[in-house]
Amino acid sequence: MASSQKDFMSRILTVGLLITISLHSTGAQVGVSYGRLGSELPCTEDVIALYKNNSITRMRIYDPHPPTLHALGGTGIELMVGIPEADLPDLADCQCHADDWVKANILSYPDVKFRYIAVGNEVSPSSKYAPFVLPAMKHIYNALSALCIGNKISVSTSIKTDLLGNSTPPKDGVFLSNVTWYIRPIVEFLSDTRTPLLVNVYPYFAYMNDMENISPSFALLQPNSGKELGGVYYDNLFYAILDAVHAAMEKILASSSSMSARLASVSASTTVSETGHSSSHKNKPVEKESVGDGDFSSVENARIYNNNLMRIVKKGTPKRPGIPIETYIFAMFDEDLKPGPDYERHFGIFLANGRPKYPLRFY
Ligand SMILES: *[C@@H]1O[C@H](CO)[C@@H](O)[C@H](O)[C@H]1NC(C)=O
Ligand SMILES: *[C@@H]1O[C@H](CO)[C@@H](O)[C@H](O)[C@H]1NC(C)=O
Repeated sequence: MASSQKDFMSRILTVGLLITISLHSTGAQVGVSYGRLGSELPCTEDVIALYKNNSITRMRIYDPHPPTLHALGGTGIELMVGIPEADLPDLADCQCHADDWVKANILSYPDVKFRYIAVGNEVSPSSKYAPFVLPAMKHIYNALSALCIGNKISVSTSIKTDLLGNSTPPKDGVFLSNVTWYIRPIVEFLSDTRTPLLVNVYPYFAYMNDMENISPSFALLQPNSGKELGGVYYDNLFYAILDAVHAAMEKILASSSSMSARLASVSASTTVSETGHSSSHKNKPVEKESVGDGDFSSVENARIYNNNLMRIVKKGTPKRPGIPIETYIFAMFDEDLKPGPDYERHFGIFLANGRPKYPLRFY
């Protein structure tokens, strides 16, 4: 295509994009992940009452947990439901298994507002499950399409940002060359189906891994802590990480063999399927002891991060200006049964008794 024609096409796409944006109002964008790996969590009915009472209108769960699905019916809460990676080989193996999965976990709950099916969460490209992610996504997508509900429920997968080989400055964001085989066909499929890639975005971990170069206020999304990165002003580290993913997706689509993928590269979109801030970090790893994280993992900083998040997701990133960012906070409760370092167990925004850990308003 001649380049003037290309400019013309991209202008049409941009205009189309702006129209779409103005149709999406800037209502509440933030849902909360309901992880259940805690030993003393409230019963499911009470958890859902807590969502409603706090005006939390979206929920993410990691598996199609029947009691939760039953309790969600008729509440109007929109749901992102996950498929655990251990179930992917079976779903990839036969369309019939995906058809059965959709019957059992979606069709059986006609009063639940399903919004996303997340096929795998943070599946590592080096894991034995990686080759099954895309085929399972396609089978679930086909099953929904055959039932004419493919346009109501989005089928995607959730990635960790460690698939990026570079993320600074954001415009130079690129996926690691050794994961291209995994991520390219996924990004192309999502472009074909006009579905956002789900991304778990943690300024918290970015800061902990690079305290020398990142200021705490930039990682806590504080107003006026922004800086210029590659000639573009960034308000906060959340926008910067997300735009690095956008840039990496654009590079994949721009070099795609499919013309429609190339044309759609500028509108490659994301949903933030997890973000959050731990309120405690005891038992720091020995090698970090000399640096220390100060009081970065504190109740106060978790309060600051999540309250700032509510505000910044209503605006778009510099690469996606004006497009509100659908986001899910990790997580509803502290999960004392989670393995790993201490900080993993303190991302909750509510205490097990249903009281807020700190003031946080959903709006
Ligand atoms: C709902 O919220 C109000 C005010 O925040 C509180 O007084 C009440 O106990 C809550 N109810 C439930 C079921 O959590
Ligand atoms: C890709 O390479 C990076 C280092 O460049 C390494 O850390 C990572 O484990 C590799 N990933 C895979 C899936 O091979």
